[in-house]
Amino acid sequence: MEIRIENLTKAYGDFKAIDNMNLTIADGDLVGLLGPSGCGKSTTLFMLAGLNKPTAGRIFFGEHEVTDIAPEDRGIGLVFQNYALYPHMTVEDNIMFPLINRKVPKNEARDRAYEMAKMVQLEGLMKRKPKALSGGQQQRVAIARALVKKPEVLLLDEPLSNLDAKLRVETREEIRRIQQEVKITTIFVTHDQEEAMSISDKIAVMEKGVLQQYEVPQKMYLNPGNLFVATFLGTPQINVFDAEVHDGKIYCAGNMLRSGCMVPDGSYKGGIRPESFNVTLLPSAPDAIRAEASHVRMTGRELQIRFNLGANEFRLLVHSDMQIGVGTPFYLTTREKQILLFGQDGKTVGKF
Ligand SMILES: Nc1ncnc2c1ncn2[C@@H]1O[C@H](COP(=O)(O)OP(=O)(O)OP(=O)(O)O)[C@@H](O)[C@H]1O
Ligand SMILES: [Mg+2]
Repeated sequence: MEIRIENLTKAYGDFKAIDNMNLTIADGDLVGLLGPSGCGKSTTLFMLAGLNKPTAGRIFFGEHEVTDIAPEDRGIGLVFQNYALYPHMTVEDNIMFPLINRKVPKNEARDRAYEMAKMVQLEGLMKRKPKALSGGQQQRVAIARALVKKPEVLLLDEPLSNLDAKLRVETREEIRRIQQEVKITTIFVTHDQEEAMSISDKIAVMEKGVLQQYEVPQKMYLNPGNLFVATFLGTPQINVFDAEVHDGKIYCAGNMLRSGCMVPDGSYKGGIRPESFNVTLLPSAPDAIRAEASHVRMTGRELQIRFNLGANEFRLLVHSDMQIGVGTPFYLTTREKQILLFGQDGKTVGKF
């Protein structure tokens, strides 16, 4: 089911929690709705669910406008952060509950509950109560319960935030598998950029109630539309520095980083990701920049090195077998097409 959001706004008095949002989600896609705390992710999801009434704008599921349709008539499955299972009921009864509630005959409801349980790999646990399950298992019960009505849209609000790191990764892969198996259009709210990038067909990044960019993960990472999106995606964070452009050359604190850039002379914000440097211990090219490591951190696969160009601090990543310690001089160049320039308004001007 395609979801279309048109000019959606939610205001609380003068404050706009969502400001004129436009978004179309293709049938069968999983979209990660991503942004910092308070940016309006839950508000958006609640409006899609019908639990929160828009101040302005319209929502379509397929060709049908649902803006004023009651939540129970929208054909959605909802999963929240705190699984909200009924503690006194068994797993089986929890999953069957939405069907019993809809007066589906008990035998049929049970059959469908077992079908769902099989899909989320819970068959062996049907007679247990929620408190006898792990967090990840409880979350899968919540997903089975949301899917048992065969909704056409699945809405998940930070469904993994109660799980530990390892279980989070496992459960998100599980959610992706189930979503692709059922081919259900899904919106997955998270403030974890890595989580969003790893399971989404497309990501919608929001800040302060405004949709910043809507793109497939790799394209968004490589071609962020503005400084906010650039800094929100990626760990360690993209390096942001004061850039000067003269005659098509990009400088940072007098060091020439790149030539042949067709942008007007002037001051910009530059952005370069920690993985976008070439580092050698001897000068590799006439224009290689000499730098010195101020901090070195070993993370296993790679070394994280900090260095300065003037007042600008950078972090870079190199393979962990490189012999660089604090104070070691090294030479760097930047990889082709890896320097972003942002205008004074924060919008991306180009990539060089
Ligand atoms: N009933 C309300 N009255 C006034 N302001 C509200 C109300 N509900 C939400 N807000 C505000 O709207 C903004 C968006 O809230 P929302 O819950 O959508 O954020 P979120 O992106 O889900 O954040 P989080 O990641 O912390 O869950 C916040 O600034 C919040 O304080
Ligand atoms: Mg929220």
